[in-house]
Amino acid sequence: MDIASIKRSVRGRVGKEIFFYDRIGSTNSAAMDLAAKSPEGSVVLADCQERGRGRLGRTWISPPGVNIYMSIILRPLIASEEVTLMTMMSAVACASALRKSAGLHVLIKWPNDLMVGDKKIGGILTEVAVEGKRVTHAVVGIGINVNMDSRQFPDDIRETATSVIHETGTPASRENLTVAVLNEIDRWYRILETGGKQTLLEEWRSMTTTLGKQVVVSVGDQIFSGLAESTDEKGNLIIRLHSGETKKVSSGDVTVLR
Ligand code: BTN
Repeated sequence: MDIASIKRSVRGRVGKEIFFYDRIGSTNSAAMDLAAKSPEGSVVLADCQERGRGRLGRTWISPPGVNIYMSIILRPLIASEEVTLMTMMSAVACASALRKSAGLHVLIKWPNDLMVGDKKIGGILTEVAVEGKRVTHAVVGIGINVNMDSRQFPDDIRETATSVIHETGTPASRENLTVAVLNEIDRWYRILETGGKQTLLEEWRSMTTTLGKQVVVSVGDQIFSGLAESTDEKGNLIIRLHSGETKKVSSGDVTVLR
């Protein structure tokens, strides 16, 4: 990957410093290690991950030469229970970048899945270090399937995963897409920092496939089903259960029913 061209093309502080690795365990783990001594907006980017991590302890398939795997170090002024906002901010930024630079109608499945139709094209894993109730730094990890051929997907996700090339039929520049994502993160992070939480939540709601739908949500070993009614100020999902009660979930796996 041409890192110098990425650094030249980013407009703000996000991506001005990039640590690039041909091969790494996980960019999120490396970014957590580097966070304390690196400026805000620093990015760990890798061509390939040997132990790419997804949410809920899953593996993120990370072969070389085809996709984007990166983690951004941020120091948001938020409480630990507001971390989902970082994921929502990044999901809005990635969806906007993919819409603008690849022309794909990307939507968001709560809280972090980047979807084209009913297939997942990318995901976000936010990890934080906390001191007391305060977040000292956050690492936003982004994985986007760009030029990965559907034959490279393992059997168990082949029907549910997609990539830019699979959707558009043409290879996309990973550099251009990386710049577009970094610039959108810079823009949305600034909006959030300058009191624009409502603007972000409105944008997220306008891009989501989840609200207004019947869903099944698994949280640990519990399962809830009902109507995905809204999201609150902290990014929690509010579900109206069949009993009429509401249930607030801060993390979990959502299946949107038709
Ligand atoms: C998910 O949808 O489960 C989240 C996937 C996040 C994957 C990215 S790839 C870059 C960063 N490093 C990791 O180990 N994971 C995230």
